Amino acid sequence: MKNKIAFITGASRGLGKDMALNLAKEGVTILFTYHSNQNKADEVITEIEALGVKAKAFVYHANNPLSGRELLAEVTAFLQKENGHPNFDFLINNAGTGLNKTIEQTQAIDFDEMFQIHLKSVYFLTQAAIPYINQGGSIVNISSGLTRFSFPGASAYAIMKGGVEVFTRYLAKELGDRKIRSNVVAPGAIATDFGNGANRDNEAKRTIIKNITALGRVGEAEDVGGVVAFLCSEKANWINGQRIEVSGGMLL
Ligand SMILES: NC(=O)c1ccc[n+]([C@@H]2O[C@H](COP(=O)([O-])OP(=O)(O)OC[C@H]3O[C@@H](n4cnc5c(N)ncnc54)[C@H](OP(=O)(O)O)[C@@H]3O)[C@@H](O)[C@H]2O)c1
Repeated sequence: MKNKIAFITGASRGLGKDMALNLAKEGVTILFTYHSNQNKADEVITEIEALGVKAKAFVYHANNPLSGRELLAEVTAFLQKENGHPNFDFLINNAGTGLNKTIEQTQAIDFDEMFQIHLKSVYFLTQAAIPYINQGGSIVNISSGLTRFSFPGASAYAIMKGGVEVFTRYLAKELGDRKIRSNVVAPGAIATDFGNGANRDNEAKRTIIKNITALGRVGEAEDVGGVVAFLCSEKANWINGQRIEVSGGMLL
Protein backbone atom coordinates (compact mmCIF):
# COMPACT_ATOMS: atom_id res chain seq x y z
CA MET A 1 0.00 0.00 0.00
CA LYS A 2 2.80 2.37 -0.94
CA ASN A 3 1.84 6.00 -1.59
CA LYS A 4 -1.37 5.62 0.43
CA ILE A 5 -2.25 7.88 3.33
CA ALA A 6 -4.33 6.94 6.38
CA PHE A 7 -5.98 9.28 8.85
CA ILE A 8 -6.76 7.59 12.18
CA THR A 9 -8.42 9.18 15.20
CA GLY A 10 -7.11 8.20 18.63
CA ALA A 11 -3.90 6.42 17.67
CA SER A 12 -1.68 7.56 20.55
CA ARG A 13 -2.54 4.39 22.48
CA GLY A 14 -4.47 1.14 22.41
CA LEU A 15 -6.25 -0.10 19.32
CA GLY A 16 -5.58 3.00 17.23
CA LYS A 17 -1.85 2.71 17.80
CA ASP A 18 -1.87 -0.90 16.62
CA MET A 19 -3.88 0.09 13.53
CA ALA A 20 -1.32 2.80 12.78
CA LEU A 21 1.61 0.38 13.14
CA ASN A 22 -0.04 -2.29 10.98
CA LEU A 23 -0.76 0.20 8.21
CA ALA A 24 2.73 1.71 8.51
CA LYS A 25 4.21 -1.79 8.08
CA GLU A 26 2.42 -1.82 4.70
CA GLY A 27 4.12 1.48 3.80
CA VAL A 28 1.07 3.69 4.46
CA THR A 29 1.78 7.27 5.61
CA ILE A 30 0.06 7.82 8.96
CA LEU A 31 -1.76 10.94 10.10
CA PHE A 32 -3.38 10.43 13.48
CA THR A 33 -4.92 12.23 16.42
CA TYR A 34 -4.50 12.23 20.14
CA HIS A 35 -6.52 13.99 22.81
CA SER A 36 -4.00 15.10 25.44
CA ASN A 37 -1.25 12.48 25.62
CA GLN A 38 1.42 14.18 23.54
CA ASN A 39 4.23 11.96 24.88
CA LYS A 40 2.41 8.84 23.76
CA ALA A 41 1.71 10.42 20.36
CA ASP A 42 5.42 11.23 20.00
CA GLU A 43 6.31 7.62 20.84
CA VAL A 44 3.97 6.42 18.08
CA ILE A 45 5.61 8.78 15.60
CA THR A 46 9.06 7.45 16.59
CA GLU A 47 7.90 3.83 16.14
CA ILE A 48 6.39 4.57 12.72
CA GLU A 49 9.41 6.54 11.53
CA ALA A 50 11.60 3.58 12.57
CA LEU A 51 9.71 1.62 9.92
CA GLY A 52 10.79 4.21 7.35
CA VAL A 53 7.31 5.70 7.09
CA LYS A 54 6.12 9.28 7.63
CA ALA A 55 3.79 10.13 10.52
CA LYS A 56 2.21 13.29 11.89
CA ALA A 57 -0.01 13.80 14.94
CA PHE A 58 -2.87 16.30 15.44
CA VAL A 59 -4.84 17.23 18.54
CA TYR A 60 -8.51 16.24 18.49
CA HIS A 61 -11.19 16.82 21.12
CA ALA A 62 -14.13 14.71 19.99
CA ASN A 63 -16.32 16.23 22.72
CA ASN A 64 -16.14 19.62 21.03
CA PRO A 65 -18.81 19.77 18.28
CA LEU A 66 -16.74 22.09 16.06
CA SER A 67 -13.40 20.36 16.34
CA GLY A 68 -13.94 17.78 13.57
CA ARG A 69 -14.24 20.39 10.85
CA GLU A 70 -11.29 22.37 12.27
CA LEU A 71 -9.24 19.17 12.44
CA LEU A 72 -9.99 18.27 8.83
CA ALA A 73 -9.00 21.79 7.73
CA GLU A 74 -5.69 21.35 9.57
CA VAL A 75 -5.06 17.87 8.14
CA THR A 76 -5.88 18.82 4.54
CA ALA A 77 -3.79 22.02 4.77
CA PHE A 78 -0.87 19.88 5.98
CA LEU A 79 -1.34 17.43 3.09
CA GLN A 80 -1.65 20.25 0.57
CA LYS A 81 1.68 21.65 1.78
CA GLU A 82 3.43 18.27 1.91
CA ASN A 83 2.08 16.66 -1.26
CA GLY A 84 0.60 19.47 -3.35
CA HIS A 85 -2.91 18.04 -2.87
CA PRO A 86 -5.11 17.60 0.21
CA ASN A 87 -6.43 14.08 -0.36
CA PHE A 88 -5.94 10.87 1.59
CA ASP A 89 -7.03 7.25 1.19
CA PHE A 90 -8.21 5.74 4.47
CA LEU A 91 -10.29 7.24 7.28
CA ILE A 92 -10.42 5.27 10.52
CA ASN A 93 -12.83 6.56 13.15
CA ASN A 94 -11.47 5.02 16.33
CA ALA A 95 -11.07 7.60 19.14
CA GLY A 96 -13.29 7.29 22.15
CA THR A 97 -13.87 6.76 25.84
CA GLY A 98 -16.13 4.42 27.75
CA LEU A 99 -18.96 4.86 30.25
CA ASN A 100 -19.90 2.30 32.86
CA LYS A 101 -23.30 3.32 34.23
CA THR A 102 -26.58 1.45 34.37
CA ILE A 103 -29.62 2.97 32.70
CA GLU A 104 -30.80 4.20 36.10
CA GLN A 105 -27.44 5.87 36.83
CA THR A 106 -26.97 7.49 33.40
CA GLN A 107 -27.48 11.26 33.50
CA ALA A 108 -28.36 13.37 30.47
CA ILE A 109 -24.84 14.81 30.57
CA ASP A 110 -23.33 11.29 30.33
CA PHE A 111 -25.62 10.42 27.44
CA ASP A 112 -24.78 13.66 25.62
CA GLU A 113 -21.05 13.03 26.06
CA MET A 114 -21.32 9.53 24.58
CA PHE A 115 -23.46 10.91 21.75
CA GLN A 116 -20.95 13.65 21.00
CA ILE A 117 -17.79 11.49 21.21
CA HIS A 118 -19.00 8.28 19.61
CA LEU A 119 -21.68 9.30 17.12
CA LYS A 120 -22.00 13.01 16.31
CA SER A 121 -18.24 13.56 16.04
CA VAL A 122 -17.86 10.46 13.84
CA TYR A 123 -20.70 11.60 11.60
CA PHE A 124 -19.45 15.16 11.09
CA LEU A 125 -15.74 14.34 10.96
CA THR A 126 -16.57 11.84 8.22
CA GLN A 127 -18.79 14.38 6.45
CA ALA A 128 -15.89 16.86 6.44
CA ALA A 129 -13.50 14.15 5.21
CA ILE A 130 -15.59 12.75 2.35
CA PRO A 131 -14.53 15.31 -0.30
CA TYR A 132 -10.88 14.50 0.40
CA ILE A 133 -10.99 10.67 0.32
CA ASN A 134 -9.49 9.33 -2.88
CA GLN A 135 -11.49 7.16 -5.27
CA GLY A 136 -10.94 3.55 -4.19
CA GLY A 137 -10.34 4.58 -0.58
CA SER A 138 -11.74 3.02 2.56
CA ILE A 139 -13.52 4.08 5.75
CA VAL A 140 -13.33 1.88 8.83
CA ASN A 141 -15.51 2.78 11.81
CA ILE A 142 -14.74 1.18 15.15
CA SER A 143 -17.82 -0.10 16.95
CA SER A 144 -18.03 -2.71 19.71
CA GLY A 145 -19.17 -6.25 20.40
CA LEU A 146 -21.61 -4.53 22.77
CA THR A 147 -23.96 -3.78 19.86
CA ARG A 148 -24.58 -7.54 19.46
CA PHE A 149 -24.50 -8.62 23.12
CA SER A 150 -25.41 -6.63 26.21
CA PHE A 151 -23.75 -6.06 29.56
CA PRO A 152 -25.26 -3.93 32.32
CA GLY A 153 -23.72 -0.46 32.39
CA ALA A 154 -22.94 -0.11 28.69
CA SER A 155 -26.28 1.11 27.29
CA ALA A 156 -25.45 4.75 26.40
CA TYR A 157 -22.07 3.79 24.92
CA ALA A 158 -23.46 0.82 22.97
CA ILE A 159 -26.41 2.81 21.59
CA MET A 160 -23.97 5.24 19.96
CA LYS A 161 -21.89 2.41 18.54
CA GLY A 162 -25.10 0.95 17.11
CA GLY A 163 -25.67 4.30 15.41
CA VAL A 164 -22.17 4.17 13.95
CA GLU A 165 -22.98 0.77 12.43
CA VAL A 166 -26.11 2.13 10.74
CA PHE A 167 -24.14 5.18 9.56
CA THR A 168 -21.54 2.87 8.03
CA ARG A 169 -24.13 1.12 5.85
CA TYR A 170 -25.32 4.51 4.59
CA LEU A 171 -21.73 5.53 3.86
CA ALA A 172 -21.23 2.32 1.90
CA LYS A 173 -24.33 3.08 -0.15
CA GLU A 174 -23.69 6.78 -0.76
CA LEU A 175 -19.96 6.50 -1.49
CA GLY A 176 -20.12 3.36 -3.61
CA ASP A 177 -20.12 5.36 -6.83
CA ARG A 178 -16.67 6.68 -5.87
CA LYS A 179 -15.52 3.11 -5.10
CA ILE A 180 -15.00 4.05 -1.46
CA ARG A 181 -15.73 1.10 0.82
CA SER A 182 -17.09 1.57 4.35
CA ASN A 183 -16.97 -1.11 7.01
CA VAL A 184 -17.25 -1.59 10.76
CA VAL A 185 -14.78 -3.37 12.99
CA ALA A 186 -16.41 -4.36 16.26
CA PRO A 187 -13.83 -5.43 18.84
CA GLY A 188 -14.74 -7.60 21.80
CA ALA A 189 -13.17 -6.92 25.19
CA ILE A 190 -9.59 -5.79 24.60
CA ALA A 191 -6.90 -5.17 27.23
CA THR A 192 -6.15 -1.46 26.75
CA ASP A 193 -6.47 1.66 28.95
CA PHE A 194 -10.13 1.82 27.85
CA GLY A 195 -12.68 1.70 30.71
CA ASN A 196 -9.98 2.45 33.29
CA GLY A 197 -8.01 -0.54 32.02
CA ALA A 198 -10.52 -3.04 33.45
CA ASN A 199 -10.05 -5.60 30.64
CA ARG A 200 -6.31 -5.56 31.41
CA ASP A 201 -6.17 -5.11 35.19
CA ASN A 202 -9.39 -6.46 36.74
CA GLU A 203 -8.76 -10.21 37.23
CA ALA A 204 -12.41 -10.99 38.04
CA LYS A 205 -13.54 -9.33 34.81
CA ARG A 206 -10.78 -11.05 32.84
CA THR A 207 -11.90 -14.44 34.11
CA ILE A 208 -15.48 -13.74 33.02
CA ILE A 209 -14.28 -12.64 29.56
CA LYS A 210 -12.10 -15.75 29.14
CA ASN A 211 -15.02 -17.98 30.09
CA ILE A 212 -17.40 -16.45 27.53
CA THR A 213 -14.86 -16.29 24.68
CA ALA A 214 -14.51 -19.31 22.39
CA LEU A 215 -10.76 -18.75 22.05
CA GLY A 216 -10.47 -18.58 25.85
CA ARG A 217 -8.63 -15.32 26.51
CA VAL A 218 -9.00 -11.55 26.66
CA GLY A 219 -8.26 -9.71 23.40
CA GLU A 220 -5.08 -7.64 22.91
CA ALA A 221 -4.69 -4.50 20.78
CA GLU A 222 -2.53 -6.59 18.42
CA ASP A 223 -5.59 -8.71 17.60
CA VAL A 224 -7.35 -5.76 15.95
CA GLY A 225 -4.98 -3.51 13.99
CA GLY A 226 -4.22 -6.10 11.29
CA VAL A 227 -7.92 -6.51 10.56
CA VAL A 228 -8.27 -2.77 9.97
CA ALA A 229 -5.20 -2.79 7.71
CA PHE A 230 -6.70 -5.73 5.79
CA LEU A 231 -10.00 -3.84 5.30
CA CYS A 232 -8.06 -0.91 3.85
CA SER A 233 -6.12 -3.16 1.48
CA GLU A 234 -7.05 -4.32 -2.01
CA LYS A 235 -7.45 -7.83 -0.59
CA ALA A 236 -10.73 -6.55 0.88
CA ASN A 237 -11.89 -4.77 -2.27
CA TRP A 238 -15.25 -6.59 -2.35
CA ILE A 239 -16.03 -6.14 1.36
CA ASN A 240 -18.37 -3.21 1.76
CA GLY A 241 -21.02 -2.18 4.29
CA GLN A 242 -20.07 -5.03 6.63
CA ARG A 243 -19.62 -5.39 10.39
CA ILE A 244 -16.67 -7.61 11.28
CA GLU A 245 -16.54 -8.63 14.91
CA VAL A 246 -13.03 -9.16 16.27
CA SER A 247 -13.68 -10.78 19.62
CA GLY A 248 -12.22 -14.29 19.56
CA GLY A 249 -15.84 -15.50 19.52
CA MET A 250 -17.41 -13.81 22.56
CA LEU A 251 -20.87 -15.04 23.53
CA LEU A 252 -21.43 -17.09 20.39
N1 LIG B 1 -10.73 -1.68 24.52
C1 LIG B 1 -11.88 -2.31 24.32
O1 LIG B 1 -12.23 -3.28 25.01
C2 LIG B 1 -12.78 -1.87 23.21
C3 LIG B 1 -13.80 -2.75 22.83
C4 LIG B 1 -14.67 -2.38 21.81
C5 LIG B 1 -14.51 -1.16 21.19
N2 LIG B 1 -13.53 -0.30 21.60
C6 LIG B 1 -13.43 0.98 20.92
O2 LIG B 1 -12.14 1.09 20.35
C7 LIG B 1 -11.76 2.46 20.28
C8 LIG B 1 -10.38 2.64 20.88
O3 LIG B 1 -10.39 2.15 22.20
P1 LIG B 1 -9.03 1.82 22.97
O4 LIG B 1 -9.30 0.60 23.76
O5 LIG B 1 -7.89 1.86 22.06
O6 LIG B 1 -8.98 3.08 23.97
P2 LIG B 1 -7.70 3.79 24.66
O7 LIG B 1 -6.56 2.85 24.77
O8 LIG B 1 -8.27 4.40 25.90
O9 LIG B 1 -7.28 4.95 23.62
C9 LIG B 1 -8.19 5.98 23.36
C10 LIG B 1 -7.66 6.87 22.25
O10 LIG B 1 -8.65 7.89 21.99
C11 LIG B 1 -8.13 9.18 22.32
N3 LIG B 1 -9.18 9.94 23.01
C12 LIG B 1 -9.65 9.75 24.26
N4 LIG B 1 -10.63 10.63 24.54
C13 LIG B 1 -10.79 11.40 23.44
C14 LIG B 1 -11.63 12.50 23.12
N5 LIG B 1 -12.51 13.00 23.99
N6 LIG B 1 -11.51 13.07 21.90
C15 LIG B 1 -10.62 12.59 20.98
N7 LIG B 1 -9.79 11.56 21.24
C16 LIG B 1 -9.88 10.97 22.46
C17 LIG B 1 -6.93 8.94 23.22
O11 LIG B 1 -5.99 10.02 23.13
P3 LIG B 1 -4.97 10.33 24.38
O12 LIG B 1 -3.96 9.21 24.38
O13 LIG B 1 -4.39 11.67 24.05
O14 LIG B 1 -5.81 10.35 25.61
C18 LIG B 1 -6.39 7.62 22.62
O15 LIG B 1 -5.64 7.87 21.46
C19 LIG B 1 -12.87 3.26 20.97
O16 LIG B 1 -13.77 3.76 20.00
C20 LIG B 1 -13.58 2.20 21.80
O17 LIG B 1 -14.93 2.53 22.02
C21 LIG B 1 -12.66 -0.64 22.60
